[in-house]
Amino acid sequence: MKANVGIIGLGTVGSALLKQVEALPGYTVKTLAVRRKTKQTALFSYPVTDNAFELIEDPEIDIIFEAINNSEDALAYAKRALTLGKTFISASKAMLANELADLHRIEQECGGTLLYEAAVGGAIPVLRTIREHLGGEDIFKVRGIVNGSCNYILTSMLNEDLSFDEALQNAQILGYAESDPSSDVDGVDSYYKALILAHTINKSAPSLSRIKVEGIRNLESHELKKAYREGQKVKLIAEIEKNGEQYKVDVRPRLIDQTDGLYYVDGVNNAIEIDTAHAGRLILQGQGAGGHPTASAMIGDLVNAQTKREQRIRELLLQI
Ligand code: HSE
Repeated sequence: MKANVGIIGLGTVGSALLKQVEALPGYTVKTLAVRRKTKQTALFSYPVTDNAFELIEDPEIDIIFEAINNSEDALAYAKRALTLGKTFISASKAMLANELADLHRIEQECGGTLLYEAAVGGAIPVLRTIREHLGGEDIFKVRGIVNGSCNYILTSMLNEDLSFDEALQNAQILGYAESDPSSDVDGVDSYYKALILAHTINKSAPSLSRIKVEGIRNLESHELKKAYREGQKVKLIAEIEKNGEQYKVDVRPRLIDQTDGLYYVDGVNNAIEIDTAHAGRLILQGQGAGGHPTASAMIGDLVNAQTKREQRIRELLLQI
């Protein structure tokens, strides 16, 4: 039997999601929710609503994708879907960073499932790697490039001689940047991702001992070029370090040299180093932003959730 899926939001990520779900055997798009119905949305071959709660309440939809830019609405949708015991797959970083503890509580109380692999590192499966593959590890530090727009801007300023504004404009055209790109360039988006990583490492809301957040807005291409001539690159790096029972979160542009693996991570790519007590260092790298890479991570969540769901049903049937 095919599983019914609802998609809230049809921007860069939502549109890519729609295409990927359509191509995925075993899943049917039941309804789309948009902020406003238009002539264009009337052309879709799916029911379209401008009230996302209708989609969430539909008893025939168990799995809901949320890809919108409004944290307040995203939170209300997440709470309702989880309260109804549904699977909610989100990429809303600000909302998740601030609300994960509460949402996990609702998840446990009501039996819903919250998944958000796409919220950190775009296509890179970093959260599942930490949660599942490194589930028993002592992870004492995570460090990386977690904002695709900033890395793309810094790379374009260096390699293509673009100004900060020109490079940012390109990042917006390519669908990498947030609707308010100050969140990217001021380091806030990286900070949210660092908080989600810290939560995942700690397996619950972490206690933070120090927070530092600085972006790339004031960097100029001549500075990047001077550093490059001296064998260095400037990268916006997020660092989460365990300090006893607490975590230090540090986001800022840093000068790194060729001995640092992150030196070679350019363009929209992200890379995340995970330092563990027993497995040593793991490095994950891939496209950190953009519609299809982000949607791909959300599809991974979908398939994972559905596999677990089918397994639970089989176990229940065996008990009868
Ligand atoms: N604006 C974000 C970035 C999108 O550039 O990394 C992916 O989270």
